[in-house]
Amino acid sequence: MGGYTRLLVVLSMLAAVALTSKAQYVISINKDEATKQFYTSFYIGDDGMETRVNLLLDLGTNLTWANCRRLESLSSLHLVRCQSPTCKAIPGNGCDSRNICLYQQPNPLGKNSSVTGRVVQDTASFTASSFRPFTFSCAAVKTPQGLPPPVAGILGLSTGEYSFWRQVTKKFNIIPQFTLCLPSSGTTGNFYIGGISYSVPRTPTSMRVSSGEYFFVVNSIYVDGTPLSLNPGLLNGGAKLSTVVPYTVLHTDIYNALAQSFTLKAKAMGISQVRSVAPFKNCFDARAAAGNNIPVIEIGVPGKIREERWTFHGTNTVVNINKKVICLAFIDAGKKPKENIVVGTYQLQNYIVTFDMSRTELTFSDSLLLHNTSCSS
Ligand SMILES: *[C@@H]1O[C@H](CO)[C@@H](O)[C@H](O)[C@H]1NC(C)=O
Ligand SMILES: *[C@@H]1O[C@H](CO)[C@@H](O)[C@H](O)[C@H]1NC(C)=O
Ligand SMILES: *[C@@H]1O[C@H](CO)[C@@H](O)[C@H](O)[C@H]1NC(C)=O
Repeated sequence: MGGYTRLLVVLSMLAAVALTSKAQYVISINKDEATKQFYTSFYIGDDGMETRVNLLLDLGTNLTWANCRRLESLSSLHLVRCQSPTCKAIPGNGCDSRNICLYQQPNPLGKNSSVTGRVVQDTASFTASSFRPFTFSCAAVKTPQGLPPPVAGILGLSTGEYSFWRQVTKKFNIIPQFTLCLPSSGTTGNFYIGGISYSVPRTPTSMRVSSGEYFFVVNSIYVDGTPLSLNPGLLNGGAKLSTVVPYTVLHTDIYNALAQSFTLKAKAMGISQVRSVAPFKNCFDARAAAGNNIPVIEIGVPGKIREERWTFHGTNTVVNINKKVICLAFIDAGKKPKENIVVGTYQLQNYIVTFDMSRTELTFSDSLLLHNTSCSS
């Protein structure tokens, strides 16, 4: 038995106790299969007039936005005035003729659209916790572009002062951090706010914040242990994390280096390349790849002492198109993307990822699947 296999077996024996994760504030995460988007639900409203709302998770949104046509009662909603400190603290605020604070939300899914809403306050409730005022933006629009049907708005998870998790951690005076465990198809994951404890091995690395979004430093990228030879300038901006991008998006030069190396290693394992299936560019014979015999992709990040690696196995690196074809689950973003690397949700599924603003630190766990558990356990 090889070292790696032995390790897996030992880890599996620990599995039953591995993911008894503890956190005080937990909300479930669902995946909409058709759009590959993730959303969470809680209640808005008061006094028996609460409405359950499903909101898309977006790490880039500063202020939660909800379609108020979906709310059953507006009786407990409070309008925010333009002169209030709350209005002034919201980036991109505006003011209407009746002195009501406005917020313009760029649609994270629509390239050229935005939604304007009035800034309001109400009670938010989830898992036996309830708080007021919960500040969000209330718009009345028909069908927001690209949102899955059950979703009635966007949950703001940016680093900003009025993001959802900030409002919760301030209200309950808990550590300013949150954790995502995105589920794979057909299961439910978890969104934890505040401290969390769990027993799967994890790796902390420093986080960088820019325009309210979350980035981490990338030293290098490896395929089966071999580093890609990249112009180092390509990695300067690091990688952004996204909960709305389904597959990790890479600058053309990074994509090509990754695809070339992955294809070479795969061929050496007897996995031949087949015709591509859009939007993917590099596809392979699924039958030859059966089992878990797929090159491993790793992102090298600065650790506390030396470089650490975020390791991705087959379930996060290739997507099954049909019984015969699998494709490399990364997207070529062209030569001039806004960010050279945006880590998307297919790669984040079944990892526990913690965004700790008290230390500006990002922590990712091992793949839970290696430990015979998942975000749904
Ligand atoms: C993984 O867990 C499942 C369900 O708990 C169990 O049936 C299976 O034997 C476990 N596999 C390993 C390799 O431990
Ligand atoms: C985006 O919207 C602006 C303003 O509405 C418009 O002028 C522009 O042509 C649009 N661009 C695209 C690519 O649709
Ligand atoms: C969110 O707020 C930050 C400042 O905190 C700003 O730089 C950024 O542009 C805002 N993002 C959006 C989408 O409005």
